[in-house]
Amino acid sequence: MTATTDLETLERDLLARVGAANDEAALEALRVEALGKQGSISALMKNLGSMSPEARKEFGPKLNGLKDRVTEAIVVKKATLAEAALDAQLKAEAVDVTLPPVKPRLGTIHPVSQVMEELAQIFGEMGFSVEEGPDIETDFNNFTALNFPPKHPARETHDTFFMDARDERGDRKVLRTHTSPVQVRTMLKQKPPIRMICMGRTFRKDSDATHTPMFHQIEGLVIDETSTMADLKSVLIAAIKAYFEVDDVKLRFRPHHFPFTEPSAEVDVGCDRSGGQIKIGAGDDWLEILGSGMVHPNVLANCGIDPEKYQGYAFGMGIDRLAMLKYGMNDLRAFFDGDTRWLKHYGFSPYLLPGLAQGLG
Ligand code: PHE
Repeated sequence: MTATTDLETLERDLLARVGAANDEAALEALRVEALGKQGSISALMKNLGSMSPEARKEFGPKLNGLKDRVTEAIVVKKATLAEAALDAQLKAEAVDVTLPPVKPRLGTIHPVSQVMEELAQIFGEMGFSVEEGPDIETDFNNFTALNFPPKHPARETHDTFFMDARDERGDRKVLRTHTSPVQVRTMLKQKPPIRMICMGRTFRKDSDATHTPMFHQIEGLVIDETSTMADLKSVLIAAIKAYFEVDDVKLRFRPHHFPFTEPSAEVDVGCDRSGGQIKIGAGDDWLEILGSGMVHPNVLANCGIDPEKYQGYAFGMGIDRLAMLKYGMNDLRAFFDGDTRWLKHYGFSPYLLPGLAQGLG
């Protein structure tokens, strides 16, 4: 009977320890200790073989009962511990959904970036893709391909920053004076139909309240077999209305000269200056906002496009000027001072990206 008493003691001990195990690792160690190959219960099982038939008959079922009860206790305890661990994890990761949202401080979007997003939206809706070009350009892309005659004074009127570095033709590189070289880049790499805009930095030696040596332009170019000045007008009217979010806008096309367009037009937008601030879409004053025209046949030919077959229009606008007009800033120089107080005041929330559906600004 000693063996039976020992069994009871063993069972009591094991069950107590299962009850006391407070994590899954301790429980597993206990399972191995009792039921593993070298375990205490397994050792007793092995002993059965050497017992007399009578002893085995009495001891065998008891040992099996013990094994079953200990196994079950471990399984149940394991489930309890897993549930408790999950509860603790859920509690630790709890989120109070009734709290107001806390906006992390991300700074603000610069008005120029905001306006670029707005313009990409507007022209994107009209089927324009977005192209890019570098700030440092070749003389060919910035001037020659655009039909500026060599050594012509027109090159000087841009107040160009020439660099010491030279391009593969031996000409001095330039900080691009306008985004029009991206017209050239696009035509050289893409066959018509072309319908693109490009936005980016441009540079001229100029500095006052409305001019900074670095400023931003948006360029537009459409080349196909049929586009005319009338298409140019309708696209610009639609874009200006969408940008200023006004239903009615007056545009005035004035004859002008650019080497790379023929005919060329400068475009003024109708405005009101009576209140000290310029208001777009009202009044009977005019403000010049862009240059445009039909792409000159020489430019098409310079870019490997047959001017007998293809035609199109181009336009260029100052982005900073557009931002100042829409958002009421009157000194361009402040745009690039990097003063965080200015940015806080005039910047836009990074959470509200412009889209035509929800409004632009
Ligand atoms: N590149 C011209 C400028 O900077 C603007 C322009 C672009 C004019 C395209 C006509 C066509 O003044």
